[in-house]
Amino acid sequence: MSASVPLFVVLAAGKGTRMKSSLPKVLHPIAGQSMLAHVLNATSEFSGEVAVVVGPEMDAVAREAQRVIPAAHVFIQAKQRGTADAVLAARPQLEAHRGDVFVLYADTPLIRAETLARMQRALDGGANIAVLGFRPKDPTGYGRLLTDHKGSLVAIREEKDATGVERRISLCNSGVMALRVSNFSQLLSRIGNTNAKGEFYLTDVVELAIVDGLTAAVVECDEDEVLGVNARDQLAAAEAIWQSRARTAFMREGVTMIAPDTVWLSFDTRIACDVFIEPHVVFGPGVVVEEGAKILGFCHFENAVIGKGARIGPFARFRPGARIGRGAHIGNFVEVKNTTLGPGAKANHLAYLGDGIVGAKANVGAGTIFCNYDGYFKHKTEIGEGAFIGSNTSLVAPVSVGAGAYIGSGSVITKDVSPGALALERATQEERPGWADKFRTLMARRKAGR
Ligand code: UD1
Ligand code: MG
Repeated sequence: MSASVPLFVVLAAGKGTRMKSSLPKVLHPIAGQSMLAHVLNATSEFSGEVAVVVGPEMDAVAREAQRVIPAAHVFIQAKQRGTADAVLAARPQLEAHRGDVFVLYADTPLIRAETLARMQRALDGGANIAVLGFRPKDPTGYGRLLTDHKGSLVAIREEKDATGVERRISLCNSGVMALRVSNFSQLLSRIGNTNAKGEFYLTDVVELAIVDGLTAAVVECDEDEVLGVNARDQLAAAEAIWQSRARTAFMREGVTMIAPDTVWLSFDTRIACDVFIEPHVVFGPGVVVEEGAKILGFCHFENAVIGKGARIGPFARFRPGARIGRGAHIGNFVEVKNTTLGPGAKANHLAYLGDGIVGAKANVGAGTIFCNYDGYFKHKTEIGEGAFIGSNTSLVAPVSVGAGAYIGSGSVITKDVSPGALALERATQEERPGWADKFRTLMARRKAGR
């Protein structure tokens, strides 16, 4: 283990009772990925070591930690006796570690790598401890940061233990802490629990360090970045902050959103420059939109790739495996799943394209359905380049339509169609001249009882 990389201790043992959920709190998602993953990702550019502290019976949290950072060590805090006790659950790794230590809370998901880097710079500047502070509109419930006349941190006071004067301090503890002290675990084990909650407070480490002649500094950040999620309303507030950040970042990279507040993004959404997005669009996980594509209103995407200059929507749905080629058009009420459309292909109205391949410049008419499922298995539909599928066609898969072929409207196609052919599958139209008048006369008589 390198002496210089930091160790991140991520606390995730809280039960999260206020979430009222069977899912552990830190697995609740923001922008489609767990809060824990957000925090772990913020640490990843430091290539440090990671220890995640979970509660008993939180296997799902442990698995999520190792999914995001396979090398993460997971420690179990047997009983929730406070944040200092939680950090000590990682004692074996703390004692083996020589570099800086960061303590993060997994329910504070919006922390950014830049801020962690600022804390590291505070350590480089000579502080033994750097605490991330903020000035919330409403400080109720937070620990207060007590500073001396030079602005150096001297103690952190939990609200329940604070005097009236201390409670008037506006500078609060976010919980994020960076330490450059030898024997951190020894310092931690000196923390007692004679306080209002009877818990072992990590925050007491500051006063103990000062007694030992060490120094502590405050690094400040915006309230938005250290919002703690304890209940669903805060989860929604964190989501809103994340979304707003992500939209701004995309717009700065050259994406147009005419009503950004109505565009929902995922943690891994990729949108190239000159993409134009109308209101009310949802990007689920795994979506890539290439340069110059136009997304009209009310579209929904999951695991889809939209090619350069494609025109999409309004009201189109892209399910996993949708691959829309360069300049292709997908119009209103079209659903695409596990289907690739070649460049310039079109399906402009009311269609289901599932498990298929549509060749370049093919035209799929209104009401076309790829009948891909027989109740047991999924089957493939292939449409060749430049083929024309008439409106209201059912393509019963497995089936293929050759390049340049035509399908007459209303056909139910169950057999492969050769390139360049016309396939029609419907009864021959018959005509009875004058029938309508005779029919009307007959019915009118019946109604009149004659
Ligand atoms: C803590 C800080 C407080 C700060 C606030 C910021 C302490 C003593 N207080 O208070 O100064 O203003 O966060 O939100 O640290 N946890 C465990 N095991 C435990 C207890 C907690 O893993 O035994 C984890 C929780 O899952 C959570 C984090 O530690 O992720 C913080 O614990 P919490 O009880 O929410 O602390 P606060 O009272 O909010
Ligand atoms: Mg908390």
